[in-house]
Amino acid sequence: MVEEVQAVVGTTAEGAAEETLDMAALDEVLDQYEGQEGALIPVLQRAQAIYGYLPPEVLEHISDRLGTPLSQIYGVATFYAQFYLQKRGRHAVRVCDGTACHVRGAGKIITALEKELGVQAGETTPDYRVTLEVVYCLGSCGLSPVAVIDEQVVGRLIPEKAVALVRELD
Ligand code: FES
Repeated sequence: MVEEVQAVVGTTAEGAAEETLDMAALDEVLDQYEGQEGALIPVLQRAQAIYGYLPPEVLEHISDRLGTPLSQIYGVATFYAQFYLQKRGRHAVRVCDGTACHVRGAGKIITALEKELGVQAGETTPDYRVTLEVVYCLGSCGLSPVAVIDEQVVGRLIPEKAVALVRELD
């Protein structure tokens, strides 16, 4: 998904205080889907691949171009877990707190990572380095407790190892 188009963030004349998004890549996608039924979800997927998440101005632009009410677009974007409405970190750290992982100490891993990163689970560090998430069963209960750091599954985790792995992320 990420290989699609790299994007697209510019700054205003005043500097970096305010970001402006280049809609050209999104317009190309919208051109491809023009007039097609059921375009909304694939368009949202492609838009997220371009921008990394779905900021309000992107959703408004999609609404304008598809003629779909903004409320309906928000309804879809918030219903599916695959869509992100907040800017995400360069790295995703997902700690499992499903039953098997929970009984084997996932809570301590989550607490250690929250302390290390200075954010709560579900949040992104202010420098957008890491998004910390809690998930519920990754299907690898035999390896519990488990986390997925970016695409890599790490099993039999302990808090110290989780912190060390996160420190290695650039
Ligand atoms: S409960 Fe964590 S992988 Fe299943």
